[in-house]
Amino acid sequence: GLRLYQSLVVILFSFFNPVSYVRTCSSSQFRCDDARCIPRTWVCDGDNDCGDMSDEDQRHNCDRWAGCFITLAEFSSLIFCILTNIFLLANRSCAPTEFTCINNRPPDRRCIPQSWVCDGDSDCSDAYDEHQNCTRASCQFTCQNGRCIPKVYVCDGDNDCEDESDELDHMCTTPEATCPPNYFKCDNGHCIEAVKVCNRIDECSDNSDEKGCGMWNVSEISHYCIQFNSMIKATIQVYSFISCPVFSSLISVFLFYYFLGINECNDPSVSGCDHNCTDTQTSFYCSCRPGFRLMSDKRTCDDIDECAESPSVCSQICENTVGSYLCKCAPGYIREPDGKRCRQNSNIEPSLIFSNRYYIRNLTVNGLSYSMILQGLSNVVSLDFDRVDSRLYWIDVGRRVIERMFLNGTNKETIISHDVLSGEGLAVDWVGRKIYWVDAYKDCLNVAELDGRFRKKLLEHCVDVNNTYCFQYPRAIVLHPKKGYVYWTDWGDNPYIGRVGMDGKNKTAIITTKLEWPNGVTIDYTNDKLYWADAHLNYIEFSDLEGRHRHAVYSGNLPHPYAITVFEDFVYWTDWNTRTVEKGNKYDGSGRTMLANTTHRPFDIHVYHPYRQPIRK
Ligand SMILES: *[C@@H]1O[C@H](CO)[C@@H](O)[C@H](O)[C@H]1NC(C)=O
Ligand SMILES: *[C@@H]1O[C@H](CO)[C@@H](O)[C@H](O)[C@H]1NC(C)=O
Ligand SMILES: *[C@@H]1O[C@H](CO)[C@@H](O)[C@H](O)[C@H]1NC(C)=O
Ligand SMILES: *[C@@H]1O[C@H](CO)[C@@H](O)[C@H](O)[C@H]1NC(C)=O
Ligand SMILES: *[C@@H]1O[C@H](CO)[C@@H](O)[C@H](O)[C@H]1NC(C)=O
Ligand SMILES: *[C@@H]1O[C@H](CO)[C@@H](O)[C@H](O)[C@H]1NC(C)=O
Repeated sequence: GLRLYQSLVVILFSFFNPVSYVRTCSSSQFRCDDARCIPRTWVCDGDNDCGDMSDEDQRHNCDRWAGCFITLAEFSSLIFCILTNIFLLANRSCAPTEFTCINNRPPDRRCIPQSWVCDGDSDCSDAYDEHQNCTRASCQFTCQNGRCIPKVYVCDGDNDCEDESDELDHMCTTPEATCPPNYFKCDNGHCIEAVKVCNRIDECSDNSDEKGCGMWNVSEISHYCIQFNSMIKATIQVYSFISCPVFSSLISVFLFYYFLGINECNDPSVSGCDHNCTDTQTSFYCSCRPGFRLMSDKRTCDDIDECAESPSVCSQICENTVGSYLCKCAPGYIREPDGKRCRQNSNIEPSLIFSNRYYIRNLTVNGLSYSMILQGLSNVVSLDFDRVDSRLYWIDVGRRVIERMFLNGTNKETIISHDVLSGEGLAVDWVGRKIYWVDAYKDCLNVAELDGRFRKKLLEHCVDVNNTYCFQYPRAIVLHPKKGYVYWTDWGDNPYIGRVGMDGKNKTAIITTKLEWPNGVTIDYTNDKLYWADAHLNYIEFSDLEGRHRHAVYSGNLPHPYAITVFEDFVYWTDWNTRTVEKGNKYDGSGRTMLANTTHRPFDIHVYHPYRQPIRK
């Protein structure tokens, strides 16, 4: 309500309230007691224009209504008229002699005379009246050379006939007619009775008496309205300087009560709401259906990308749709009845492989069964497996070697035995059949065949042009063979999570903020989320593969997370301070459970399951 009312009142007051003051008094002016000059017509107009009431006091015998051109009778007709207009605007069907602009909404006129259909002018806002199988047989204006042109081209200043016959002087110069009071002057100079303005009959012959009638276009319904409309027009024309505060304030009061009660929501073109509109005492507000968000204009509803904003809505693959989203499961997984969670559908039980310095251990994901895979090691900080060959790979930083063996414990061999000065992170590319590792002493990323041959330094130094993000203390590494990316963490002076193509190109730092000691890093290949743990800020977070849309799984309540891995709906991690292996929900950390205590610090951890290394394209 109020908004519409305010703008109307502003318009009304600017119309009726003159504001300029004149310094010397002429014959048409009145001298106030304090010597100011005001127009004579302001005397007794109900406004204290002089400031000392000398234009309004008893010396003038002011009748409070004298300055106002409207009488009580006229005012009641005004109210009647406005009410009819409102009624008509709300639900008016056009008369048989009229054509309905079906798509027009107020204040555009909905009913137009049938004669306007196919007249070459679009009178409906969408030109519906000119799309009625119009045959343009009849000639609106015949030029002297025989050409046919639309009537509106005549006297428009353009030589449309090409012989100037549509712009002839005697035809086009309008005599400077002045019309008597109570007459309306048409654009073509004709004078018509003011009461005939806006009665939807073209008395002017150029339709200028019917143009812009808008809301006042109801004359045949009520002769009060005819009177009122013509009076307004004539009055405005004749007494353009009129000041009638009583009149305008009455109209304001009326409009105030009218528009206060108006329900903007009935008309979408007024409210502008995309979805739901709720009317209130003074105004209205818009709201959106679920799955949409109200934009800053408070009208438009925009689809929410649930998949990016709240990834937890789906366990794995999430596809955003307009107003909603769809959950799917990666190959090998089946959807749970809730339609959101996924469960691996193989008869292979996942198990956890983790290293704690001298041992490599096997732990079931429920923490109940705990066994040894390998012992007698010096200091195993990092390990990975290869589902294809069923092999385990690890870096023994104590003996400065990279080794491997079959998971059944056979064929243990050293594949890299020199220049692994401080290998801290190792990852197997189970598709490209390579191993990648970062070295915190040699400050570089290396790659080699699985058997250790063709070793190559893939990347060193810095990843950005300003040399801010460089190899200093590279820690963990994870691969995305399908996308061809290597990700690693570095907890140097400018900590970052870096990414480089497996070909050594496109190096970049994708996470650089809210990072102190990025320790573990892993990827959930079922939904392409990058997970990492920060051992100083004590959190686990995840983002998309570009480092955008960060979310926290745990924020600040982990003592010293070291390595992490994900499988199904859980994130698993090792903690140095508590010397534990723990798990919790991969999105919100709920259901946090301690799976094992160890005597020595647990280092790297992986879920062993073929689905952790998806092979299909
Ligand atoms: C929007 O309108 C629909 C139907 O009119 C209703 O079911 C829904 O609850 C409304 N939503 C809001 C947010 O008001
Ligand atoms: C770990 O132990 C479980 C049960 O003891 C066994 O089924 C699984 O194969 C083992 N995993 C590995 C990688 O050795
Ligand atoms: C161990 O596993 C490898 C690869 O799966 C296999 O070739 C080998 O025969 C196995 N050895 C034993 C003793 O089971
Ligand atoms: C490099 O440093 C300059 C100056 O500090 C800075 O304006 C610019 O944004 C930096 N560029 C990048 C890519 O960080
Ligand atoms: C590296 O960047 C180039 C150019 O931006 C792009 O065409 C190429 O696909 C990128 N490579 C990778 C592995 O993303
Ligand atoms: C972990 O260690 C603590 C203290 O030694 C012990 O009380 C607790 O039962 C252990 N928990 C597990 C799961 O082994």
